[in-house]
Amino acid sequence: MNVVLSVAEMKEIAAKLRRAGETVALVPTMGALHEGHLALVREAARTSSRVVVSVFVNPTQFGPAEDFARYPRDIEGDLRKLGALKVDHVFAPDAASMYPPGGSETRVDLTRLPGHLCGLSRPHHFPGVATVVLKLFNICRPDAAVFGLKDYQQVRVIERMVADLDVPVRIVRHPTVREPDGLAMSSRNRYLSAEDRAKAPVIFATLKHLADAIARGERDAARLIELARGRISDAGGSVEYLAVADPDTLDDVAVADRPVLIAAAVRFGGTRLIDNVVAGG
Ligand code: PAJ
Repeated sequence: MNVVLSVAEMKEIAAKLRRAGETVALVPTMGALHEGHLALVREAARTSSRVVVSVFVNPTQFGPAEDFARYPRDIEGDLRKLGALKVDHVFAPDAASMYPPGGSETRVDLTRLPGHLCGLSRPHHFPGVATVVLKLFNICRPDAAVFGLKDYQQVRVIERMVADLDVPVRIVRHPTVREPDGLAMSSRNRYLSAEDRAKAPVIFATLKHLADAIARGERDAARLIELARGRISDAGGSVEYLAVADPDTLDDVAVADRPVLIAAAVRFGGTRLIDNVVAGG
């Protein structure tokens, strides 16, 4: 497994791989890798002859008051975990190499998708994500890139960007990987106190409960949201949003008479956790 620190070197490797007729799958990550990330890497190895994993804590997708400075970083642990899998190149640039001093004038902005769910409280987030992912695509030139549905809105943003800008990368969706008690794996779970960690599975339990309610015939989104808010607040979580939405546009849905995305952001202590399920239809 080769570790690549510079953008220029990664571009050379990508060009060589193309000339050699290899197919390349990219897994973009911010490191602090857990089983959710590793499942994406395994999926990448199934789809392509070469696998590139990027590890880059992207400053532009964090707001000024967010956790960029204390976001977990563990490149040695990451390399050990990736070394046990079929990974050809780990691209781990530093911030100055991705964003040379002097700044950038160009960014990728989407008009509607970021106006929902996480984008409401994190206005910096999706332009930062879309821009860095397009840069990673241009540097690594993958045929396919694997993204996790834990970050459902992110997947839709990337899918739309690729469609709208004719980016020649196939986006592969991977299901959310969970702890045995249902909590979606996340690099941020390590911020949780033991007490909050014990409460956090209520998020997925509640989303599943709503999916069951829809399966039993409940259609009223407002009633579903009310029910979920109560369950999560009773368990000590503070709900940032809870939405029943169209799975493609992420627009709110009032009547769940077709497949819907049920998505939530919930805080336990200072830690913000997100999760979602698709239900109905
Ligand atoms: P990060 O949070 O490190 O996640 C990297 C990838 O792993 C994303 O596609 C994310 O959806 C996926 N992932 C995280 N937890 C998962 C889980 N429990 N199950 C399945 N997939 C999971 O998402 C980012 O980094 C960044 O925004 C990035 C795309 C790298 C751009 O900077």
